[in-house]
Amino acid sequence: MPLVTSKEMLLRAQQEGYAVGAFNANNMECVKAVIEAAEEEKAPVILQVSQGAIKYAGLEMAAAMVMTAARLSPVPVALHLDHGTSFEQNIQCLLAGFTSLMYDGSAEPLEKNIAVSARITEIAHLKKVPVECELGKIPKVEEFFGADEIIALSKEKDISKVVDVVRKKAGEKTEQLMADPAQAEEFVRRTSADSLAAAIGSIHAMWDDIQPIRIDRVKALRAATNIPLVLHGSSGVIRTRKDAQERGITLKENEGTLEDAVEAGVAKVNVATAINMAFLAASKKAFEKSPDERDIRKILLPGLQAAKDLVKSYMRLLGSSGRAQATAASGSAKAVAVHGEE
Ligand code: G3H
Ligand code: ZN
Repeated sequence: MPLVTSKEMLLRAQQEGYAVGAFNANNMECVKAVIEAAEEEKAPVILQVSQGAIKYAGLEMAAAMVMTAARLSPVPVALHLDHGTSFEQNIQCLLAGFTSLMYDGSAEPLEKNIAVSARITEIAHLKKVPVECELGKIPKVEEFFGADEIIALSKEKDISKVVDVVRKKAGEKTEQLMADPAQAEEFVRRTSADSLAAAIGSIHAMWDDIQPIRIDRVKALRAATNIPLVLHGSSGVIRTRKDAQERGITLKENEGTLEDAVEAGVAKVNVATAINMAFLAASKKAFEKSPDERDIRKILLPGLQAAKDLVKSYMRLLGSSGRAQATAASGSAKAVAVHGEE
């Protein structure tokens, strides 16, 4: 079916209490893994083009892969720009047929973030394309740990010890960078953002799902604004309370898991690193098993399968499985209208 916008997809998720998974379109295998997962789960899905994918594949190539995959698929797919860096890049993506945009103004002073976000939404809305804007800043794991430390921590068996180290080294800074609920209403009103990427305690590109997030912030942000909330850095977030218990992670009063975040009103969940890691682990295993293999596809296929299995498990956890039909019914008419105007 034609691409749909993320607008109806996320509003529906917000209303019905589930979240839509957003996964990265890093290469053809990742796109196929996500689409096949969505088809098998009958789930609406967002395929996003990251800044890394733009550098790697080029904007047009990355977008074309998603557009083709979506056209050939019966499930609703939105093509999203992830962490858009500027007004110009957002407009470039709008013209290229993206059905969901993002401006990440988190490195800018608040007033500039608001001004650029508002300029983008003003234009994108003329084409009925929604825009995600960022309040607060979701840090990257490299801001706290060097490559050797990450390797050492990822090998540590005592997860509660690892969680303590992360709390000590990253806790204070991550908290300072969180979205301020007191600013959210004004931010959303002045930017006309369609969804809010809010920093709520997660860290981008974690090696394991061990990080709690601040559920009190999710609730306060939900109370301050009625647009869908987006969780970034979800690879590192503990999935469920059962997982936390089994892995010896103690949650504080105001903390929660991915499952809690969805229950509290997060409607879009971005997962990238965990999918890459699952892909690489399976391909590495295949390569170690057949080091003389000369067909690249035989090494990549197990990676695709592992990525697909993980995407499916996220879709079930987020509650988006089985929601494709209802989303298609509400979203496709709008998407056609967008392209019909061109
Ligand atoms: O924008 C992309 C996401 O926030 C992905 O973060 O790689 O930590 O899952 P992640
Ligand atoms: Zn992100």
